Amino acid sequence: MSLDQNLNKILIIDFGSQFTQLIARRVREIGVFSEIVSHKKIKLKDINHSIKGIVLSGGPLNVYQINKYSFDKKILQLDVPVLGICFGHQILSKLNGGTVKQSKHREFGLANVYKKKNSLLTTNFFGIKKSKQVWMSHADQVSKLPKNFKVVASSTNSKFAIVENKIKKYYGIQFHPEVTHTENGKKLISNFIFLICKIKRNWSSMDQKNQLIKDIRKQVGNNKVICALSGGVDSSVVAQLLNKAIGKKLYCIFVNTGLLRKNEEVQVVQTFKKRLKMNLIYVNAEKEFLKKLKNVSDPEKKRKIIGNLFVKIFERYANKIKNVKFLAQGTLYPDLIESKSVTGSQTSKIKSHHNVGGLPKKMNLKLVEPLKFLFKDEVRKLGLELNLSKEIISRHPFPGPGLAIRMPGIITNEKIKILKDADYYFIQALREHGLYHKIWQAYAALLPVKTVGVMGDNRTYEYLCLLRAITSDDGMTADYYEFKKSFMQSISNKIVNSIRGINRVVYDVTSKPPSTIELE
Ligand code: XMP
Repeated sequence: MSLDQNLNKILIIDFGSQFTQLIARRVREIGVFSEIVSHKKIKLKDINHSIKGIVLSGGPLNVYQINKYSFDKKILQLDVPVLGICFGHQILSKLNGGTVKQSKHREFGLANVYKKKNSLLTTNFFGIKKSKQVWMSHADQVSKLPKNFKVVASSTNSKFAIVENKIKKYYGIQFHPEVTHTENGKKLISNFIFLICKIKRNWSSMDQKNQLIKDIRKQVGNNKVICALSGGVDSSVVAQLLNKAIGKKLYCIFVNTGLLRKNEEVQVVQTFKKRLKMNLIYVNAEKEFLKKLKNVSDPEKKRKIIGNLFVKIFERYANKIKNVKFLAQGTLYPDLIESKSVTGSQTSKIKSHHNVGGLPKKMNLKLVEPLKFLFKDEVRKLGLELNLSKEIISRHPFPGPGLAIRMPGIITNEKIKILKDADYYFIQALREHGLYHKIWQAYAALLPVKTVGVMGDNRTYEYLCLLRAITSDDGMTADYYEFKKSFMQSISNKIVNSIRGINRVVYDVTSKPPSTIELE
């Protein structure tokens, strides 16, 4: 049995809504596996017995732009319950003989919906007030219901805010139950799953762990697997999962580029080799990286040099292990899901910098990607289930090229040492003040300018340290974190007083966009 093939699931057919991933996450939070497919790809023949319910997502189209979407409507003739959300609700009505029109009043934002009749879908949803606040986002709406459909709830502007066809088990919701602005929205999704699709819970971290371990054993058999371990969340979870599944047939390679956070190499060896008893090959390549990076200041060149050298070193050590057949990678579900564009081309976008680029092709290795059906928050929970410490699981992201891109200009041993210390003090202070987990990512950078300072009776001329701390959901957009003055004063003092080489500290207050999170 494999995770994607036979696990009972809710299938989410994507029509391009910005909230499709959120629907999938809500279903999984409720404890049931869900998978997203594009409306253009899914055909009747793909629907097997494991699909216990179908959700039609929202989307940017209107139901009369028939040439812009292709959806195999025979799917709706199966005996599987269907929930249409927003555009999904409109298309469900349209395909069953109803009509959809442009609304007189477009609705974007909060609205109240009022109960009109009982329905399994709204069991324990409305409460005593028989009304709930919901999040609307639509220009069109259903204007005439198809035969055998009944109104379950209405809003002032949308008569058909929730509808049902009990015989066919079709349900339509004009608003978005998956967003947190909709009060009690999760209840609607869980009613659909448990009361209407009658699916059983199958998606706890424990279920995932057991299933993934079985899948890995089945896939790799008696063969050896290599894995590039960085100490970050994804590669740590992949390594530990494989460790549980195949033990000593897993070989992890950890490359110390010399551009890691202070003491990171000690911690990684301590955790993975000593505590978790993995086959860990520790490669100290500090000198090799520094040599290749000598006098290079262009950010893209730095990234290329580091990426290529990393692959070369990894390959060198991997080749020493005989008969390796697989490479394990921490590809996640959002990397696999197709682009949201419904009308344009749909390209699958794998973030190349998260993978050990080029290796499988060159070395003729097959990939093991056990996390490819998981969202980041699920990977974190799985990591805890696998006995990885909270410290590893909730660590801030750290870029592959490491400190090199936090040090504009040329890279020297002296600068690396200064930067490691500054970053260490900053992160320590965040932990001591209980701020580390309120911040999505924080780090210190070293700017390639020296400024004048005065310490005691002496004039100093030293580097400028920049601190960055941001809040974010996924790193795509970010805002700077607002520290109290007392914290800023104490960290600035600590850095300047403790580190020879820095005499000034500045705080980065730009958001992303227009800035990026890293400096280079
Ligand atoms: P930017 O700087 O693009 O960063 O706003 C967004 C997030 O990605 C991380 N980042 C990287 N991660 N390899 C990685 O594995 C890279 O080359 C890389 N560049 C940036 C960055 O730390 C932030 O979390």
